[in-house]
Amino acid sequence: MEHPDLAELVLAEDAQDMLFRDARTATEFQDVPVSDAQVRAIYELVKHGPTAMNQQPMRAVLVRSEPARGRLLEHIVENNNKAETLAAPLSVVIAADLDFHLRFSETFPVLPNAEQVYAEAKSEVRTASAVMNAHIQLAYFIIGVRAAGLAAAPVTRFDHQALDADFFPGGKLRAVAVVNVGVPVPGSPGYPRPPRLQYEDVFITA
Ligand SMILES: Cc1cc2nc3c(=O)[nH]c(=O)nc-3n(C[C@H](O)[C@H](O)[C@H](O)COP(=O)(O)O)c2cc1C
Repeated sequence: MEHPDLAELVLAEDAQDMLFRDARTATEFQDVPVSDAQVRAIYELVKHGPTAMNQQPMRAVLVRSEPARGRLLEHIVENNNKAETLAAPLSVVIAADLDFHLRFSETFPVLPNAEQVYAEAKSEVRTASAVMNAHIQLAYFIIGVRAAGLAAAPVTRFDHQALDADFFPGGKLRAVAVVNVGVPVPGSPGYPRPPRLQYEDVFITA
């Protein structure tokens, strides 16, 4: 077997390939739309990914219209990321809801005073938790996009203050990433996969 350690995994090998080994951060997309139904199906899968205290702070804006795309482009720093965003059939602004605790009666009924605990916490504590857990949900979203047979290209090099002021003027949402989504052009990106660290680089046993 090419990967002896694969014998330890129970997920079908082709699914492993689709979600991880064969998936790349494509930078060019085919002229094929991504529908709301596809996005909904992705969410209905990845919403089951866990977050701390089931906070689920991720909120998302589907950028489809020309004016909205134009606004988004203004906030992206690198020209290659601008070009990629312009060419993607769908761009998704992934944000963190800094008031996630207001939903705790629905999302974490097992702890009736959860909302109060976070309401009384410093706003920096809430913000840090919202942003961290939104990033975790961002990761689930990326893998979910791959499960739909699409490619996801996250961009975080944008003017965060300007994008937040433009898209989230109420101050209750904070963007964590823009994710371009679409059917990749075969062979994109046109450079070799950046190497991953080895198990021995990452794990020690204590
Ligand atoms: C959270 C996150 C943020 C990223 N931000 C950017 C970015 O701002 N600009 C960019 O060109 N690529 C960005 N990337 C793409 C990464 O460089 C790419 O996913 C990584 O090098 C792995 O590439 P591969 O999927 O081809 O193996 C980002 C990826 C992630 C997951």
